[in-house]
Amino acid sequence: MSAIAPSAEPAGNGATTMSPTATEARTGEALLELSGITKQYGPNTVLDDVSFTIHQGEVVGLLGDNGAGKSTLVKTMSGVVLADEGEYLWRGEKLGTINRQETEKRGVETIFQDSALVPSMTITRNIFMGREITNPIGLMKIKKMNEIAAQILDSVVTIEGIKSPNQLVGSLSGGQQQAVAIARAVHFKRSLLILDEPTSALAVRATEALLNYLLQLKKEGVSSVLVTHNLHHAFQVCDRHIVMNHGRKILDVRREDTSVEELTAAVVEGPEGLRRHREGKPLA
Ligand SMILES: Nc1ncnc2c1ncn2[C@@H]1O[C@H](COP(=O)(O)OP(=O)(O)O)[C@@H](O)[C@H]1O
Ligand SMILES: [Mg+2]
Repeated sequence: MSAIAPSAEPAGNGATTMSPTATEARTGEALLELSGITKQYGPNTVLDDVSFTIHQGEVVGLLGDNGAGKSTLVKTMSGVVLADEGEYLWRGEKLGTINRQETEKRGVETIFQDSALVPSMTITRNIFMGREITNPIGLMKIKKMNEIAAQILDSVVTIEGIKSPNQLVGSLSGGQQQAVAIARAVHFKRSLLILDEPTSALAVRATEALLNYLLQLKKEGVSSVLVTHNLHHAFQVCDRHIVMNHGRKILDVRREDTSVEELTAAVVEGPEGLRRHREGKPLA
């Protein structure tokens, strides 16, 4: 799996601005639509006929217990895992080829749960891996990249203890490494940011900063998908919630039509929990 596939586009710092297509589109338009996605690993059906749409400027929570298929769905959305069946539509158009290069071209940026950082390289090199800023003869502009790295680490993920973007990633704590993965995705995002359990190793303040950042992105028309175990975090920022259970989508609901209690019942107990909650019965 590779979060570090080389870009199909030249990198350059132009990547920080939104693509023209992202700014032209109206808020609420369908951005990414997955339809009938099925994925088998050997005899196990990990995703079973999953369909949903992510709209422009929408923050969507992707919830579910361990093993529900969230990370596999994230990888399918990012183009690093190919579904056995189903369609991938981007702004209403069916994608013929689905891979990381194609999704990256459209501005999909992912923080994978098992983030692909290289411990023996600096923070800067990790942030720009595969998308280095170079001069016309192909030499890397290290100073420029260091400046940008320091800037992102300062503005989006305020993490304590990082002294210089020249520090090796291997010398950082789990939370700090996660912040580098976030910084990387945040810098290159243009239309859809997918975060697979990004806050699991983050301190409270860094978590709040990240959640607020998603709301700021939304104002700019950038959508995000947040995978989290913390339903309160999800409820705080997400416009809509999708709950997965054993590879199936069992709930897809707008924030105003649900509650933390209903989401908890769905995540913890699956379809039976949902039924129980709707009938107003207490947990057995
Ligand atoms: N590459 C793989 N090969 C075989 N089984 C896998 C692979 N990736 C995930 N799985 C299985 O698919 C199921 C869903 O996993 P995953 O998508 O990681 O769930 P979640 O992120 O919701 O915890 C699990 O049973 C897991 O063991
Ligand atoms: Mg997972």
